[in-house]
Order: sequence, then C-alpha cells, then structure tokens
Amino acid sequence: MGYKEQIDINRLPVHIAIIMDGNGRWAKNQGKFRVFGHESGVLSVKDIVEGCVDIGIKYLTVYAFSAENWNRPIDEVNALMELLISTINNEAETLNKNNVRLNAIGDLKSLPQKCIDDLANVMEITSKNTKCTLTLALSYSAKWEIIEAAKKLITQVQSQEINLEDINEEVFAAQLTTHHIPDPELMIRTSGEHRVSNFLLWQIAYTELYFTETLWPDFRREDLFEAIVDFQKRERRFGKISEQLN
Ligand code: FPP
Repeated sequence: MGYKEQIDINRLPVHIAIIMDGNGRWAKNQGKFRVFGHESGVLSVKDIVEGCVDIGIKYLTVYAFSAENWNRPIDEVNALMELLISTINNEAETLNKNNVRLNAIGDLKSLPQKCIDDLANVMEITSKNTKCTLTLALSYSAKWEIIEAAKKLITQVQSQEINLEDINEEVFAAQLTTHHIPDPELMIRTSGEHRVSNFLLWQIAYTELYFTETLWPDFRREDLFEAIVDFQKRERRFGKISEQLN
C-alpha cells in the first residue's frame, strides 16, 4: 500500500510549512552548478502543490528565500530572483486551473521591483481561488516579523488605539504576516538538517517537526504523503496528558 492510501483524510493537517533545503548539494552531487538545483527544486514545488490539492491540504507555506539568503553570492541571488519571476508567471495559469491562491509573506519591499509587480499581479489573478493557499516566504525572517508586529502594537498603544493590558496572544498574532492563515500543524525540512532557521518561529509553537534526508529536488508528493502518515501517528497533547485527549 502506498502512503497516500494510508492517510486518514479526516485528520489532515490544515497547514503544512516546508523548509526546502538541499538544492545546492543535489546539484553538486551531479557536478552541476547550484542554480540547476534551484531550477530542479521548482519541479518539486509544483509536484507538492499538486499533491496538496489532490488530498485537500488547505494551506502550504514554502520557505523560498530567507532574509539571510541575501548574503549568498550575488549571481546566485540574481538567479533565484529570476527563477522566482519566471516561475510565478509560468505557473499562474496552472494555479488557476488547480484553484490555488498565491500569497507571499516576508519583507517583500526588499525584492526587485519586477518581482514585487509580478507577485502582486499573480496574487490578484489567483485571489478568488479557494482550494489551497500557497504562501511563498520571500526575504522572510521570523525575528523580523515579530519585531515588526511589536513595533505596530507599540505605535497603536502610543496613539491610544489599544490599551497595553489588552495585548494578548491573539492580538499579537493579528499583527503577523500570517494573520489570515492558521498555524501549521506540520513543518517539514528536507536534506537532513535539523534546524528551523528563523522560519515561522511564533507560528510553530505547537507544530510537529518532520525531518527527512531527502534533498529538496528529489522530494515528491509520495514523500509528502509519507510525512503526513508519520504526522498522523503522533499524539498531539498541547501540554495535556494522554488520558485527557479523548
Ligand atoms: C535551499 O537549498 C533552497 C533555497 C535557498 C531556495 C529554494 C528555492 C527554490 C526551491 C526554487 C524557487 C522557488 C519558487 C517557489 C519559485 P540550498 O541552496 O540551501 O541547498 P544547500 O543547503 O544544499 O546548499
């Protein structure tokens, strides 16, 4: 029996987040340039989005470019930006066909203007889609996001829009870039690294973490389904004891 058949469709994670890692190593293993790994990684993104649509995952968030990735060699940064632009434009039609809405989080204003414009365009033309929301984390840093949220709240307190005493988890989360998305139940990282690398730090407080040795360009929907089967075997206690759960 394949992994897809083992999935309990009534207990799917609503939101899956993925740290797509290992593109560079995958390319190097084949004696190719790193950018070839990123190009191949796009094929994995496409397959995973289709896999999510296939089984009914409502939200998928992928770490496509971290704030720290700006420190990579300029040629690689430029290649990633060009790949991003060509991918969102080439895939707009398929996203619509699959009823997928495109969304983006991160310090988007730091992206090249063409990237900002094309992202806004594809987000607009897919905005009515309801089956799945694909969020690209771009120039994203969770610490940056939390600081931005804190600044917004401080400004609101200073202007007496809200009272300091009224700030709670819900009020704080409403200021995050993910305010319209539920927290992920499952976070996957490929390539054997066991880190969360400044991704969705607030949102993963109770997220199940899944690590696989598979490099991102080799990761396909069957690997996603395997991760979901593993997730469904876990007992999520949220601080309670087993006996309290049922
Ligand atoms: C990590 O691999 C991957 C990235 C920094 C970029 C991820 C980008 C893509 C999959 C392609 C673009 C995506 C979209 C949605 C258009 P790495 O380069 O850190 O690999 P390494 O650790 O082996 O060096």
